[in-house]
Amino acid sequence: MNDDTPTTPHPYLGLWVTADGRVRHELRTGGRYVEARGDREAAYTGSYEVAGAHVEYRDDTGFTADGDFRDDVLHHGGMVLRRRKVVLVTGASSGIGRATALRLASAGHPVVLGARRVDRLGSLVTEIEGAGGQALAVPTDVTDLASTQAFADAATARFGRIDVVVANAGVMPLSPLSSGLVEQWDQMIDVNVRGLLHSIAATLPTMLAQGAGHFVTMASIGAHSVTPTGAVYCGTKYAARAITEGLRLESPRGIRVTTISPGVTESELASTITDATAAAAMEAYRADSVSADAIARAVEYAVAERPDVDVNEIVVRPAAQR
Ligand SMILES: NC(=O)c1ccc[n+]([C@@H]2O[C@H](COP(=O)([O-])OP(=O)(O)OC[C@H]3O[C@@H](n4cnc5c(N)ncnc54)[C@H](OP(=O)(O)O)[C@@H]3O)[C@@H](O)[C@H]2O)c1
Repeated sequence: MNDDTPTTPHPYLGLWVTADGRVRHELRTGGRYVEARGDREAAYTGSYEVAGAHVEYRDDTGFTADGDFRDDVLHHGGMVLRRRKVVLVTGASSGIGRATALRLASAGHPVVLGARRVDRLGSLVTEIEGAGGQALAVPTDVTDLASTQAFADAATARFGRIDVVVANAGVMPLSPLSSGLVEQWDQMIDVNVRGLLHSIAATLPTMLAQGAGHFVTMASIGAHSVTPTGAVYCGTKYAARAITEGLRLESPRGIRVTTISPGVTESELASTITDATAAAAMEAYRADSVSADAIARAVEYAVAERPDVDVNEIVVRPAAQR
């Protein structure tokens, strides 16, 4: 479904899915749309007109449809047409970021993927495009403001706007303060706190100019309580939650913010722990986990909410976690 991928999606184009999810109409620029039923796909030529919130369609088979957008969603008969959002994900090369990119892309949103491991991002783009989605990989180090700005600029250059930023990049080399692993503490502050601030600095002006946008910060249950070996990590996550709340308070109503606090989640996060005590404690602690897609579903829920509803805090943890 990528033959004529639009470079600047119309804000009111989207993925049209029947209520039972079986027929998908993916609208393209130039009045074309592609219909997929199971594994069959067909392209039609038609026209659509958008007048305010009202949309009319007509295609070469004589099919017509019209309806009104309410809260970003076109309701017509048993179908809904959701507004397509340009979604930026930092830390998209593994774990929660990767799962979030896959889930939002399969919901019809163009995704812009940022991380340092470019090979991983490249395969993710191939996977998303192979499934009919749109994705752009941008090598990004969030500890570097210029790199983060280039990530945001690449998104607007390709897709014309920034609707959602999932500030997800993070590291967790846990250790007790007595270990004195100052370099690792600095790294956590650089990625988890400065990286978040750089992501905001690089994208907030665009969202303010648009009058709309949504920041989703990946915090942690470590943003709600502190555990031994997690003093610095939890400190960065408390900071991420505080910064996100501050952004909410300072922003006009078109800007929404969501802090998501995952519990133990399958990912590569614990692989950077070098301290033996922390590594041993983590092994038992991480025995029960949720899939990265469980967190991606929370992101999808917050993003899909009506524009007048701001989902501010979500905690998702394994049912067995205490
Ligand atoms: N998994 C859990 O149990 C859990 C629980 C609570 C919160 N979280 C939070 O969830 C977020 C995602 O972590 P995850 O669990 O999915 O772990 P992960 O699999 O290790 O993913 C971390 C991601 O962050 C990226 N990253 C690290 N440093 C970066 C940098 N300087 N610039 C850009 N990207 C960078 C990594 O990509 P590159 O290495 O390719 O740059 C990777 O894509 C983190 O903020 C983490 O604190 C996770």
